[in-house]
Amino acid sequence: MRTRGLVASLRGVKEVVGLDLLPVEPVPGAFIVQGDVNEPVDVAEMMTGLSGPPDLVLSDMAANTTGHKQTDSLRTAALADMGLDFAIQHLVPGGAFCSKVFQGGATPEMMARLKAHFKTVKHIKPPASRAGSPELFVVAKGFRGQ
Ligand SMILES: C[S@@+](CC[C@H](N)C(=O)[O-])C[C@H]1O[C@@H](n2cnc3c(N)ncnc32)[C@H](O)[C@@H]1O
Repeated sequence: MRTRGLVASLRGVKEVVGLDLLPVEPVPGAFIVQGDVNEPVDVAEMMTGLSGPPDLVLSDMAANTTGHKQTDSLRTAALADMGLDFAIQHLVPGGAFCSKVFQGGATPEMMARLKAHFKTVKHIKPPASRAGSPELFVVAKGFRGQ
């Protein structure tokens, strides 16, 4: 949650919180926690920065690459799943989720979960994403609620 948090902040989003394993440059108006998405205590600390449930969850999380394609793909898919778990637990009905995914897009299992929980799901390759990079983003809108 670095550049993307900054963009959200600059675009007038009321409250921005973020979580990253690594130290993050301060973003004006944003509450950013250094921690692990797998650690409930870190996620809970991040949530103290919000006055209510989020209406947008952005995940740009990626694991350090090992050079072993299958391993890298599995580790990034696991992080995207963690982001989706978080979104399903916390989003307001009607909310949206956007996550980085690699190697041809969301896994079939993730696509099934996205379609079950959101009204629309699509993949995008934003202009800011390097043409040679295997990354894509999945964008899901219209959260159906718990
Ligand atoms: C592609 S970088 C994101 C860069 C950021 N969006 C930016 O614009 O600068 C992926 C980030 O995911 C973070 N990350 C990886 N695993 C994580 C985890 N388990 N919990 C929280 N952040 C994680 C890394 O520390 C790294 O900063």
